[in-house]
Amino acid sequence: ERGLRVADRGFLNTAVIESHITYIDGDNGVLRYRGYPIEQLAERSSFLEVSYLLIYGALPSASQLSHFTSEVLLHGPIHSDAEGFFRAFRYDAHPMSMLTSAFAYLGSYYGEANPSLQGQDLFTKAAKGDPAALQNMDRQIFRLIGKATTLAAMAYRIRQGRDFVVPPTGMSYAESFLYQLDHLSPTDHLSELHSNKPHPVLVKALDILFILHADHEMNASSTTVLQTGSSLPDPFSAVAAGCASLYGPLHGGANEAVIRMLVSIGSPKNVPAFLEAVKKRQKVLSGFGHRVYKTSDPRSFIIRKVADEVFAVTGRDPLLDTAMALHDAALKDDYFVSRKLAPNVDFWSGLIYRAMGFPMDFFPVLFVVPRVVGWVAHWRQMMLSPSGVKIWRPRQLYLGPSTRDYVPLEERT
Ligand code: SDX
Repeated sequence: ERGLRVADRGFLNTAVIESHITYIDGDNGVLRYRGYPIEQLAERSSFLEVSYLLIYGALPSASQLSHFTSEVLLHGPIHSDAEGFFRAFRYDAHPMSMLTSAFAYLGSYYGEANPSLQGQDLFTKAAKGDPAALQNMDRQIFRLIGKATTLAAMAYRIRQGRDFVVPPTGMSYAESFLYQLDHLSPTDHLSELHSNKPHPVLVKALDILFILHADHEMNASSTTVLQTGSSLPDPFSAVAAGCASLYGPLHGGANEAVIRMLVSIGSPKNVPAFLEAVKKRQKVLSGFGHRVYKTSDPRSFIIRKVADEVFAVTGRDPLLDTAMALHDAALKDDYFVSRKLAPNVDFWSGLIYRAMGFPMDFFPVLFVVPRVVGWVAHWRQMMLSPSGVKIWRPRQLYLGPSTRDYVPLEERT
């Protein structure tokens, strides 16, 4: 095929779309959402305000934020049929496989069941500014963000054999999520301290973690959402595909892999032997390295600070000693320095989730919940693009056999 060439492995240097949403400068460790530095947003904004910014492109006014917040929280509850859906899983099913399926399940409610919500006409009309179509699109977005916490909490509670909890109104997004989880942290006196309301320090920590995980331009899962969305299914099905991609240990599953790695190392004295095994490619240093950041992941510095605030409430996790020894040793070791490997967003986040009492396999779920916002922001941007939606159908370089005739079974050797 003339003119075709294979993109660099893993799309190393391939831009698949033009975007106005998130900017990353990997050489200088810069991350901005719609132009606002992540450090300022983490310090001064809130997750739902950042969600509005990522989706609509501007910081909301007070009334816009209040409307967006009430719409998202209003769409949190889910039809009681969903309980039967979750109860169909084995009690020990990985919560990420439950969540991936649950998003597709939602599509059966709001996708095919109502053809006007999907397909060419909706997106064509929305792209032309049709108010009803735009309102439809927004409602899908409110449902996805609002129900992400409910589905995640259901996947959590089903594992514990505990009933699902509907949060009281008037709570923030992160607070109502923690309330639905009602998880017993290692120091479960926290709930008594705050009359069974989630501890304010943990709520704030989760809100900041959600801001940091909300979007990251064309990472594997966002690309998957757009690849799927380009054939115009309902957005729930596109998000289900993105959730499956985030599950992998090279992507959102890394925060779970980091804790398993730290537990297997056991103590700071075993760090040198572990790093030697990594150099021999017998082990992977999870939580280190990044496709784009070649100096540092700015999110990791912010998360490191949040960890200290959480530990002040929950008690310090002894794994932190191993994590810090591993962090310091790797950053001084030429093998990692020469490969420009530094801690990424997943290196510290697992320690916080562990301190907050979450089981390890729930950590990637805590990545999915905020990343739904980035996924829907990119999905909406693609659906509304003036040039319209073009199905993503790449080509290949064919290296297989040239033409040959069929050989009947009896003649084959
Ligand atoms: C996330 O894309 C995003 O933006 C993702 C994310 C987001 O917000 O969406 O930031 C979230 O997924 C963060 C990354 C979480 N994953 C991990 O922590 C898993 C461990 N990291 C590696 O698997 C790896 O660094 C990746 C997958 C993150 C990046 O892989 P690349 O860009 O394909 O890098 P590479 O494999 O080409 O590595 C270059 C070199 C290689 O050595 P050589 O073969 O050239 O000798 O660095 C080595 C790699 O072997 N290397 C590592 C390593 N990561 C890369 N060696 C040991 N440990 C590692 N973690």
